[in-house]
Amino acid sequence: MSAEVIDGKAFAATIREKVATHVGRLKEEYGITPGLAVVLVGEDPASQVYVRSKGKQTVETGMASFEHRLAAETSEDELLGLIDRLNTDPAVHGILVQLPLPDHLDSDLVINAIDPAKDVDGFHISNVGLLGTGQKSMVPCTPLGCLMMLRDHHGSLSGKEAVVIGRSNIVGKPMAQLLLGDSCTVTIAHSRTQDLPGVVRRADIVIAAVGRPGMVTGDWIKPGATVIDVGINRIDAPEKGEGKTRLVGDCEFDSCAEVAGAITPVPGGVGPMTIACLLANTVTACCRANG
Ligand code: GUN
Repeated sequence: MSAEVIDGKAFAATIREKVATHVGRLKEEYGITPGLAVVLVGEDPASQVYVRSKGKQTVETGMASFEHRLAAETSEDELLGLIDRLNTDPAVHGILVQLPLPDHLDSDLVINAIDPAKDVDGFHISNVGLLGTGQKSMVPCTPLGCLMMLRDHHGSLSGKEAVVIGRSNIVGKPMAQLLLGDSCTVTIAHSRTQDLPGVVRRADIVIAAVGRPGMVTGDWIKPGATVIDVGINRIDAPEKGEGKTRLVGDCEFDSCAEVAGAITPVPGGVGPMTIACLLANTVTACCRANG
């Protein structure tokens, strides 16, 4: 292996320390405690793990955590009623509705009911528009975490060829906007892209966010490129014992690491950065709400 492994876990810990310091100052100097409300509808196992982790880290950094766990059959009206109450609750500075929502709920309607100033996910249409036009907005946490790692590794990203694989609203599209904001030449590739390996081979920066285990292999990577693996895929791991599983990314780590200049591991890369950025966004929302 020749690539430097970018340690997202350690980086996230430094962000959490800064968040905790900031939270302490807000409490001491202004008597304000930032608060994050997380809403989970239903019992999706992966979502439950994420929500528990978000709540735990919110409390660990000195903020208030408000968890709302609703039954899978919760009606749209009930959910919108809760969001209304959170929008007007002065103790709540950030609101996150964990996705995916059950099928009978309209995610766009629900997300757009959140006060954009409290939309710490950056998914509200107002924040999407602000980001797309280069204005101050709430920035989605996963792409923000990726950008922070890239800036830390490279310094300036200006002029670099970036290929984002995946066109989701949560990762692919905002990631492309952020890279464009840092003056990269950006390509968004997706399932219909022709000659995907050839497109990826042009990239100085590869962001893989497709949810397909090990799809990107070392022969797709330009020597020395930086590979940011957003995928978190649980696969069977019979080598660990019967019924065991393990987490892998969208990139085949060993072959990509042979060729890349730097690469994020899974787990321990992008994942921890996402929650750290959520905590940072909550402090930002709190500061903006209090002038
Ligand atoms: N589900 C997977 N990632 C995310 C995220 O970043 N925010 C929310 N709200 N739901 C998610």
